Amino acid sequence: MSEALATLREDEGAVVILDQTRLPGARQFCRLSTLEQAAEAIRVMRVRGAPLIGATAAYGVALGLAEEGGDTRLDHVLATLGATRPTAVNLHWALDRMAAVLRPLPAASRRAVAWTEARAIAAEDAAANGAIGVHGLALLQEIHARNLALPGAGHSPTHDIDCVNVMTHCNAGWLATVAHGTALAPVYAAREAGLPLHVWVSETRPRNQGLLTAWELDQAGAPHTVIADNAAGLLLMQGRVDCVIVGADRIAANGDTANKVGTYLKALAARAHGVPFYVAAPLSTIDFACFTGGDIPIEERDGNELGHGLVPVANPAFDVTPAALITAIITERGVCRPDQLASLQP
Ligand code: MRU
Repeated sequence: MSEALATLREDEGAVVILDQTRLPGARQFCRLSTLEQAAEAIRVMRVRGAPLIGATAAYGVALGLAEEGGDTRLDHVLATLGATRPTAVNLHWALDRMAAVLRPLPAASRRAVAWTEARAIAAEDAAANGAIGVHGLALLQEIHARNLALPGAGHSPTHDIDCVNVMTHCNAGWLATVAHGTALAPVYAAREAGLPLHVWVSETRPRNQGLLTAWELDQAGAPHTVIADNAAGLLLMQGRVDCVIVGADRIAANGDTANKVGTYLKALAARAHGVPFYVAAPLSTIDFACFTGGDIPIEERDGNELGHGLVPVANPAFDVTPAALITAIITERGVCRPDQLASLQP
């Protein structure tokens, strides 16, 4: 990814974001100079993806303290950003981290420190995702080695077993993060390592984040094919998928994982057909205060995203995949089973 295509970057006291509501049709950037602009960008999904909205919220705090840094203002800034989207815990994690750093400081020094802390959150996200790529690559290499050892490798009519077929859902690539992506980080690492690979990209109704994934993969020259969400079960049944890798918006302490609506159905189908199902996410996505998936708030978005005002609509934006359906979770610290998450608790 070129610097010019960064999801977010600082620019003289403001933040410039790539407006994802315009992709894949147009590359348009938005300059965020105020708290309200940052909150709006998160709410309407100009920036989206759990790690990216966390980093944007952190910068939103710095923007919000431009004029005044007293307690009343800080509370207002945190509450405004905290009300934008409920499910992705990275947003609330970033705000809690900003609050913990800023509250003990005198009002006059909060603004400068807020910029420094937001910068640190962004840099840490990029580093964490880079490490997820390295750990995820090892899993893909194992799958590739197993495929090559299969009798008749390369001769299946339905499954190109010379290459690793990964299925993903939604967009958990660099667009959803500060850099590298989470679910797509292993894909990019595999490209760099020369591992042959192909990605099944599910469309992701109703907001079509799958098209963002296809756009990203196209930029990287990574072979991919878009499928309708409901085609995933058939491909898994036909043995055309080696593994599913998705991102996460919030992982509960027991490993239950909230991600884009439709993830759960893929996990069920993957289990039914013996295909490994991986969740890739930085530690900032794990909410140890949330004991199970039942405690995760699920965002209900405007029905117009789906029904265009013509029909009654329910529009939950996320679902919860039970830990029992998850083969492993890939974090910057390595690969672990969902029941081993406690070992990652800070
Ligand atoms: O509603 P979105 O587009 O913000 O949802 C994004 C997802 O569900 C991603 O899979 C998740 O945030 C992980 S992004 C690295």
